[in-house]
Parts: sequence; structure tokens; C-alpha cells
Amino acid sequence: MTVSPVSSGQSERGALHEILRDIVVCPYCVKEDLEFFPVAGTGGEEAILYCSVCNRWYPVRNCILCILPDHLRPESDGAWIERRKAALPSHIRDRLQNETGKRHGGGDAVTREKRKEMSVRDEQAREYEKLKKAHRIEIELAAIHREIGSMKDRVVFDIGCGVGKFVKRYAPVYNWLVGIDFSYESLLLLKRDIEKRKPDNIVLMQADACFLPVRDNVADLVISSQVFQHLPGDRQRNDFLDGIYRITKENGSIAMTVYNHSYEIRRAIANGTSPEIRAKEGLHSNGKIFYHCFDHDELTALLEPQFQLNALYGLINQIPKVSYKMEGSRFYLVFDRILQRIPLSKKFGLLLMASFKKKHEGTNRLESPS
Ligand SMILES: C[S@@+](CC[C@H](N)C(=O)[O-])C[C@H]1O[C@@H](n2cnc3c(N)ncnc32)[C@H](O)[C@@H]1O
Repeated sequence: MTVSPVSSGQSERGALHEILRDIVVCPYCVKEDLEFFPVAGTGGEEAILYCSVCNRWYPVRNCILCILPDHLRPESDGAWIERRKAALPSHIRDRLQNETGKRHGGGDAVTREKRKEMSVRDEQAREYEKLKKAHRIEIELAAIHREIGSMKDRVVFDIGCGVGKFVKRYAPVYNWLVGIDFSYESLLLLKRDIEKRKPDNIVLMQADACFLPVRDNVADLVISSQVFQHLPGDRQRNDFLDGIYRITKENGSIAMTVYNHSYEIRRAIANGTSPEIRAKEGLHSNGKIFYHCFDHDELTALLEPQFQLNALYGLINQIPKVSYKMEGSRFYLVFDRILQRIPLSKKFGLLLMASFKKKHEGTNRLESPS
């Protein structure tokens, strides 16, 4: 398969088509290569990916590989392929016609939650970074980077990369960085942002984090910041963890942050003072985004069957009175770094940081309950 990365230049780190062939698969037929057909006249920005086993096709738009499961694909895919079918050999074209009609439908509750979140993330993409406090981003990025380390020859996956706070900062530090998110607009924004700097080692993929179109054992490092908390239900969380387990190499490192069911959050819930988080689990952003705040032992129990926990601690600690005054000052970064080392951070951190590796004896949790 040959496809352009975010910018279409040839990489000094090895040919892009090789990394894509090595990592990308049809999510339904996990072991199979996808055939690649460029769309003429698009300067390498558009292509069709085709799976000869199940006859599914996936679009590459603006160099973003869109490999969503059937139930999350946009209806506009039908019109998209109609206008580009000429890029395909006729025997494949005929098969596709039979496939495209089956893709859509209302979907179950989980699908509806995901579709809602996808559209909110698309709408909010431009505002997303403005809504976040800079010092909180710094604390989280520093902790993630510290947990996975920087080794030049590594392939890193950022699952739920959004508009790319990690990708933008750390792409130069690694060999390849693969950003995955189901919000196309977030990825497009990220792409437009980084293409000015002509990166030659970033691959962007629109995919469901619970159904990864990625080969087994290809990731040296996996990061996922504040995504797990938005997966609606046990089944989705298990699928997400199974996926990470499957794609990570034997000694690969994984760092993940999630909402903590912290002292401060419990207090805000009890007093009704938090406008967005009104219970341990619920919907925020006008009822459109599912969230779940994790207790540290709950997170440990979820990870333990498959992963060896290296560290679990709280980030962005909010100790009543002390932190309120300090947050935002330069001392707060140092203060928080010190607190991260003590067990109390699991109680006071706004986020929980979990850093872990695959257990040799771990297995995927097939048929996990919904
Ligand atoms: C809170 S944002 C975090 C974004 C980014 N990791 C950061 O820290 O700035 C959560 C991101 O996860 C993405 N997301 C949530 N559920 C997802 C799923 N099932 N598959 C892919 N992306 C998902 C959302 O689109 C959103 O970009």
C-alpha cells in the first residue's frame, strides 16, 4: 500500500508506505492488507482503501485514513465513492455497489452515544484547546512523556488524539506517531496545523478506539489522554483495553489518563457546584458526551487481568484551599509534581495517570458482558 502521510513528502525515517503496510488493516479482517487506489488529480490527498476479503472500502480524505466500523460511517460516504469509483478496477467496482447500501441505520444505544460524541467533538474542534487551562495541559503532557520516555526509533500511537496536543508537541521525538480519533474535524484541524511544519512521520486515522484497524504487536508506545472515561459502558472499555493489548508489542509501554472520582469532584457533586459533572457517571456538554469518573481501585481492577501496572497516581491535585490559590502560578507545577509521588494524589488528582505494560500471560477478554 502506498499513501501520503500528513504531508506527502518522502520520509527520512523509512518509506511511509512500509509503515502503513505494517500497521493498517481492515478492522473486520484484522490480518489482511488493504489495497490502495489513489484518486487521480488529488495530489495524493485522496485514495480508496479496499479489503479484498470482506469487500469493504474506506476513504482516505485529506490524507486522513477513515477506517470506521460500518455503523459509525457517515452517510455521505455513498456520494463520496460514487464520484471516485473510476479509481477502482471494474471487478472491484461491481462488488462495492452491493456493499454500500448496508452500512447505515439508527444503531443501538452505544452507537447513538458514540455518534452524538462524534458530532460534538466535530463541532467543538476549533474551540477545544481554548477551553483548556494551559498549566493543566503542561502537567498532563509532562507526566505522559515521562511515563513512556522518548526513544527515537519508537512507533507511538495516540488513541483519541483529538486536535493533537501530544502529537504536535512530541512528533519530533519519535520515529512514527499515529494519531487516532473518531472526530474527523479534530483530525483535519490537526492536519492543517501540522502540515505547515511539514512533518514526515505522522499518520492520522479516523477510527473507533474500540475497533482499531491496526495490526497486532506494532506499537512500541501507546498513549491515551482522557478518552477511556468517555467510552459508554463496560463492553466498550473492555474492547478498548483488548485493542491496546493486541496492538502493543511485548515490552511496549502504555500511559493513560482518566477523570478521577476525586475528593474535589465528590464534594462538587454533593454540593451541586459542578456545572458539568453532576454524578460519578453521566452526560456532559448539554447531555451529549458520556463520562465516567474512575476510582483508583476500579481502574486497577480493569487493567489488572491483562496489564502490569507500573504506576498509578493523581495529576493536577486539588487540595482544598491550598491548590485554589496556587493553580495557575508557576509554583503549582512544582507543587503538583511533588504531590504526584505520594499516594494521596490518588484522592486529590483531577486526573488519574496509569502507566502499564502487557502481562505475558494476559489474554483478550472475549465475550465480555455489555
Ligand atoms: C477529552 S478529548 C481528549 C483529546 C486529546 N487526547 C487531548 O487530551 O487533548 C477525548 C477525545 O477522544 C475521542 N474519542 C472518544 N471516544 C472515542 C472513540 N470511541 N474512538 C475514537 N476517539 C474517541 C474524542 O473524539 C476526543 O477527541
